[in-house]
Amino acid sequence: MEKMKNLFKQKADQTATEVKDLLKEHGAKKIGEVHLSQIFQGMRGITGLVYETSLLDSQEGIRFRGFSIPELQQKLPKAKGGNEPLPEGLFYLMLTGEVPSEADVQAISEEWRKRGTVPAHVYATVDALPKDAHPMTQFITAVLALQTESQFAKKYNEGMAKKDYWSYAYEDAMTLIARLPAVAAYIYRRKYKGGKTIDSDPKLDWSANFAHLLGFENEQFKELMRLYLTIHTDHEGGNVSAHTTYLVGSALSDPYLAFAAGMAGLAGPLHGLANQEVIKWIFEMQKSIGTDQPTGEQIADYVKKTLSEGKVVPGYGHAVLRKTDPRFSAQAEFAKKHCPHDPIVQTVTKIYETVPPILQSLGKIKNPWPNVDAHSGALLVHYGMKEYEYYTVLFGVSRALGVLAGLLWARGLGFPLERPKSVTVESVKKWLKGDDQIWGD
Ligand SMILES: CC(C)(COP(=O)(O)OP(=O)(O)OC[C@H]1O[C@@H](n2cnc3c(N)ncnc32)[C@H](O)[C@@H]1OP(=O)(O)O)[C@@H](O)C(=O)NCCC(=O)NCCS
Repeated sequence: MEKMKNLFKQKADQTATEVKDLLKEHGAKKIGEVHLSQIFQGMRGITGLVYETSLLDSQEGIRFRGFSIPELQQKLPKAKGGNEPLPEGLFYLMLTGEVPSEADVQAISEEWRKRGTVPAHVYATVDALPKDAHPMTQFITAVLALQTESQFAKKYNEGMAKKDYWSYAYEDAMTLIARLPAVAAYIYRRKYKGGKTIDSDPKLDWSANFAHLLGFENEQFKELMRLYLTIHTDHEGGNVSAHTTYLVGSALSDPYLAFAAGMAGLAGPLHGLANQEVIKWIFEMQKSIGTDQPTGEQIADYVKKTLSEGKVVPGYGHAVLRKTDPRFSAQAEFAKKHCPHDPIVQTVTKIYETVPPILQSLGKIKNPWPNVDAHSGALLVHYGMKEYEYYTVLFGVSRALGVLAGLLWARGLGFPLERPKSVTVESVKKWLKGDDQIWGD
């Protein structure tokens, strides 16, 4: 597996030289203006980060190293007999910028298999939490417990040179990713299946083994996991989980600590938790209307009721996207192929036909279209995973690939501590009177 590590280092060094030259010549160029309103509105539209692994276009959606999701489905290696891409391949692509061969992907599966054994104290730490603790709380706790294994922290403590940061961050990222399926499955089995755990199957790829550890042996579910764990990996650098991982990593907190922080962000209902909120909202709607096959009219009434109670319609809207999320479309295609007649899948389709015009009519929503979370729960319910509180953990396992690849790029390029300037309302008022400045030095 030295090939991926060496290739990454080679690419990072090459890019670092390009960045140095580029900044020498163009570093003083202005890239835009910042309006006062933007600093009060979550910094929307302010370009302030470099994040190599993916780029989001507001109209087209996400591209990973230039490839759209349908292109990934075409180009990345697949499991034997499968049609969906293996997330191992996307990790290689995000890290090196190159499409991997079958052999490259098999080597990653093998490497993660080798590193996959979780130390006993991690399970003991999770066991110390009450079973009804939210699965994301258990997941973040487990990631922090895994941190005792950090090579980066150990080497830093021993006096590691700056030039070696990337190498130990790489070792940590690989080991952490390798262990996440077992940790996540432990939480699922502990909370919902009476604590009966299942042993890893060394013949399986990372996603199929995760499905197996969770207790799902259906081949279609394994395919769904490959797709799910691919499309949830990354969404450029400014979203809460990616940015948090990147920010915390910039303090040279090791990849375990940085990822745990990112997961705390993913656990927010406006971010990753929206996937549980969607299915919860659909179940509540079914209960309130008294059918699992509501009509478009009944859905419209329920949406209006949700809005009149001052709540958001989960799964709709996005801070950057302005069209239907291609991650939604990829899952809709999967559903069309494998389970078009399931009532919950049909309800998701009807919601898609009903919600955007209603949101549009409010006049304030920038994007009335569905995001990734609007579809994922329906597919999981179809295959029997109805415990929606757990869904964000699946998202988290996938997101590890993107945010850790992003973090490795930050270390590979030697990026510094992140530290933007903040102001107070009082200082803004003074600035408006001409008495103060609100920009940094
Ligand atoms: C994703 C989200 C947080 C983006 O927020 P944003 O960038 O502030 O979005 P907008 O600029 O379009 O918001 C403008 C207004 O529309 C509201 N709005 C946005 N999406 C909405 C939705 N799905 N339902 C109801 N209202 C919504 C906002 O709350 C805001 O209202 P306010 O001015 O009264 O505070 C937002 O769309 C949302 O809450 N969606 C539902 C949760 C979700 O699906 N999250 C997962 C995202 S991948």
